[in-house]
Amino acid sequence: MMWGGRFATAPSEVMEQINASIEFDKRLFEQDIRGSKAHCRMLCDTGIISNKDAKLILKGLDQIMGEIQSGKFKFSRALEDIHMNIEDRLRRIIGPVAGKLHTARSRNDQVATDFRLYIRDVIDGLDMAISELQLALAKLALDQAATIMPGFTHLQTAQPVTFGHHCLAYVEMLGRDRGRLADARQRANECPLGSAALAGTSFPIDRKATTEALGFDRPTANSLDAVSDRDFVLETLAALSIASLHLTRFAEEIVIWSSAQFDFISLTDRYTTGSSIMPQKRNPDAAELVRAKAGRIMAAFHGFSTVMKGLPLAYSKDMQEDKEMAFDAFDNFALMVAVMTGMVQDMSPNVAALEKAAADGYSTATDLADWLVRVLGLPFRDAHHVTGEIVAIAEKRGLALDGVPLSVMQEIESRITKDVFSVLSVKNSVMSRKSYGGTAPQNVRKMAQKWIKRLEKRIQAG
Ligand code: ARG
Repeated sequence: MMWGGRFATAPSEVMEQINASIEFDKRLFEQDIRGSKAHCRMLCDTGIISNKDAKLILKGLDQIMGEIQSGKFKFSRALEDIHMNIEDRLRRIIGPVAGKLHTARSRNDQVATDFRLYIRDVIDGLDMAISELQLALAKLALDQAATIMPGFTHLQTAQPVTFGHHCLAYVEMLGRDRGRLADARQRANECPLGSAALAGTSFPIDRKATTEALGFDRPTANSLDAVSDRDFVLETLAALSIASLHLTRFAEEIVIWSSAQFDFISLTDRYTTGSSIMPQKRNPDAAELVRAKAGRIMAAFHGFSTVMKGLPLAYSKDMQEDKEMAFDAFDNFALMVAVMTGMVQDMSPNVAALEKAAADGYSTATDLADWLVRVLGLPFRDAHHVTGEIVAIAEKRGLALDGVPLSVMQEIESRITKDVFSVLSVKNSVMSRKSYGGTAPQNVRKMAQKWIKRLEKRIQAG
């Protein structure tokens, strides 16, 4: 054991079991080796270790990278974690010189550096994945810019909207999610390396050099903070919690929309499953699982917040618990986004059913009230009241709003003319919603095109 100088016996079996993190932190091997190489070069450039030793160490680290990548590396639980597994292997390859790599460094600043590097890569990957989901939605929006569907409040028919507008609502949400991840990345992008165990080091290290070599924006400014905070993990999980919440809202709509009762959209065999007993079934399992998996993302945030809560400075082993929860959240979030992208590309809106549903529930009542304001000059509150009376009559007689005879409307408000019927169709209703951010097809087309251009550029940039 590397720290075993003062120990007479080996740890107990359960001690080793609770202590070891290699099972999950082996994922950090690439970041760990990248960090070690940067540290080694800096030790050499500052004259802390010799050129000859540095060359040996770098060569050994490259060999280890190859061994892990090709699956040849033997991980050992007795060596606890990825840092000591790699260092032990280095010693076996190059001999005692390997021990010089850990000069002016501790596993505490090492793991903080590794995980920041890892999360940076995760965020970059997720930004791309979310962009692809946004692009799929924006393309669907452009396709369905003029498809009319009911807009809901309280899940009760409210006003007609366009299907494209609904898709673009999610494009906006996902855009803010990407913004939150970008913020988290920016704050995470500081280099803890050189903070050592907690107090910094007496060696003449060059923190600027390692910071630059690893692509960080700046070195962390306080060694205690650098080794003991994991807010960069929490902030990323918080951003993913909100993003996954957004995904569940759409997933829920897909579940509702694909039901026989709604019949708003159809999914193909690729994104549905059958029932083992009811032959007629086509279940939206993918959407349901996206809806469910948000629970794990939010749980990771809660779980790891609870780990960090009340921890005194600086490093405590508690922090090792960040990884499994975070990895699980990252993996599952990536899967959720990929599945949503697939479903968006797979779904086809049932245009006729959507338009028919849009006309149900007196969805153009607001248009009638607005007409009374615009044409007859009624105060909106009075117009609201008159419209309510007309809706009540329509409801009693089982008529649609545009099926109520003019004479009946005139009994309520004598100045109504037949011109009113021009605003009672769902088509004219959506066409009239041209205010900025409104649902009119021409707005949706413009907005969808703008997003498509922006997103294609982002995706091409890689
Ligand atoms: N495996 C540890 C972790 O993930 C590495 C740091 C260990 N530091 C220590 N002083 N024991 O947190």
